[in-house]
Amino acid sequence: MKRIYLDYAATTPMHPEVLEAMQPYFTDAFGNPSSIYSYGQEAKTAIDAARTSIAGLIGAQGEEVVFTGSGTEADNFAIKGVAYANRSRGDHIITSAIEHHAVLETCLFLEKEGFEVTCLPVDEYGSVSPEDVRKAITKKTILISIMQANNEIGTIEPISEIGEIAREAEIYFHTDAVQTLGHIPVNVNNLKADLLAVSAHKLYGPKGVGALYIRKGTRITPFIHGGEQEKRRRASTENVPGIVGFGKAAELARLEIDEEAGRLTALRNHFIDGLMTSIEDIRLNGHPTTRLPNNVSINVSYVEGESMVLNLDLEGICASTGSACSASSLEPSHVLIATGLPHELAHGSLRFTMGKWTTEDDINHVLEVLPGIIANLRAMSPLYKK
Ligand SMILES: Cc1ncc(COP(=O)(O)O)c(C=O)c1O
Repeated sequence: MKRIYLDYAATTPMHPEVLEAMQPYFTDAFGNPSSIYSYGQEAKTAIDAARTSIAGLIGAQGEEVVFTGSGTEADNFAIKGVAYANRSRGDHIITSAIEHHAVLETCLFLEKEGFEVTCLPVDEYGSVSPEDVRKAITKKTILISIMQANNEIGTIEPISEIGEIAREAEIYFHTDAVQTLGHIPVNVNNLKADLLAVSAHKLYGPKGVGALYIRKGTRITPFIHGGEQEKRRRASTENVPGIVGFGKAAELARLEIDEEAGRLTALRNHFIDGLMTSIEDIRLNGHPTTRLPNNVSINVSYVEGESMVLNLDLEGICASTGSACSASSLEPSHVLIATGLPHELAHGSLRFTMGKWTTEDDINHVLEVLPGIIANLRAMSPLYKK
């Protein structure tokens, strides 16, 4: 059976050119970048080139990019690092109800440490209102953290407006760009971000490597202590092959982003139209137009998301009920609940995220099989009366 992968927001397959770029750094060029002999210096040069490539993709300078072990770590570093470094100025942090757990759990941790956190609501599309951000600012606010686009429902947030408000108020602004890098434009100057978190495995790079952009002059405390790597901002021997892969993925993204975003937007619209015309009682989650080019998230009445995912899997189709992190949780998605969906509809959500190797034939195949799957599941549901 042909497998159709439609969970690119959970992780992307690695681009063959990324794998090729990484390979020498596992074997021939295995040196420790901190070593002063040539093996070490070769590795260091490769890291610097990757840093330049990622900085180029986000409009930053190389020295403003710090490699981390993941997007989660980059979010933790940004939020804890700014919170602890600026505690003498204030202890208030603003975030939103639809952030990834990497942000929300970090804020919860800081709350237990005595910081005050304001978690802003969102509208029915999952959009944060810049005006709400402005109103939430107090004399004690030191950090605002709002994601560039949501991983579950695909809504793109008004980040440059929020960044402008933060800048006017002289408050640090962090944005989680894990789902946007390589998919839509991410420019730290246009977004007015002081900190921006990214992760390689969402743009055809390897897992286990991320980066945090830190605008020059930002007061931030490192939270991994040890050696002097990353200019003392993140200790530990660098993941050289991973970083090289991330650099290559960024280089390829720069070349392909415009064309790919256009292709996926057309495919996404075709997919949404097909779903809406062939299945009754379903609704789109997230914003109808201001959404990621690759995201199709729906909620389906009278059916459990898990049942749809498992039945699709039997047909060789990989989709998800929401975020990868909630795959093993029975709680409905905090994002869907924040958009005002009742629990039963949040439980019936299904997310398809497309990517580089998704074709129109793949989408047409899903459009052929999904109505039958939903009809069978509804036939077994005591709640479905039609
Ligand atoms: C918006 C967002 N932030 C952070 C992360 C965490 O990134 P990582 O898997 O690299 O830890 C994810 C991963 O799904 C994400 O979607």
